[in-house]
Amino acid sequence: MVILLQVELVGGYYDAGDHVKFGLPMTYSVTMLAWGAIEFSKEMTDLNQIGHTLRAIKWGTDYFVKAHTQPNVLWGQVGDGVSDHYGWERAEDMTTSRTAYKIDEQHPGSDLAGETAAALAAAAIAFRTYNSSYSNLLLVHAKQLFTFADRYRGLYDEFISCAHQFYASYGYSVKEFSWDNKYAGVQTLLSKKVKLVHMHLY
Ligand SMILES: *[C@@H]1O[C@H](CO)[C@@H](O)[C@H](O)[C@H]1NC(C)=O
Repeated sequence: MVILLQVELVGGYYDAGDHVKFGLPMTYSVTMLAWGAIEFSKEMTDLNQIGHTLRAIKWGTDYFVKAHTQPNVLWGQVGDGVSDHYGWERAEDMTTSRTAYKIDEQHPGSDLAGETAAALAAAAIAFRTYNSSYSNLLLVHAKQLFTFADRYRGLYDEFISCAHQFYASYGYSVKEFSWDNKYAGVQTLLSKKVKLVHMHLY
């Protein structure tokens, strides 16, 4: 028996030079854009670029909201890296498989759900002064995804196994700053927060 489930996953960003939507690096990219928009909002506003930046973020976050179809269900990939890399074509002519892969309670991915929560939470901050209803929507999804990531622990590429050779989750050791590990960036953000607390204290 073939069961066809309809889920609309138009939008989001392809990966590098191919036509796969890989969840982990896509969420990382949107997190980075949102961190930039928060950190440099004055500079981007002065240069009349904040609107473009928010639009680029929203192209990702609209997709993550769609892909998060239930509190504990997140579609984490569209397309297959191996078959995709046999094709050399424009995105407009692309005919490769659009198979979509998800994580859920039985197939959890704390890394992917957590990173998607991080992207949505950072975007919620970036949008807060521009569109509070959109910001609130992103925060609702971020909180649900964080809870999903925490309660149902696992590595996403164990279940979305076709992501493994491209974007395996290598764990949580601090070696670099990348799509797989933002620990160093989080430390930087926390150190700024600590400095602010000190400034308030003295
Ligand atoms: C704010 O976001 C909502 C979606 O949550 C959208 O419908 C609305 O048009 C946005 N408002 C502005 C001013 O962009």
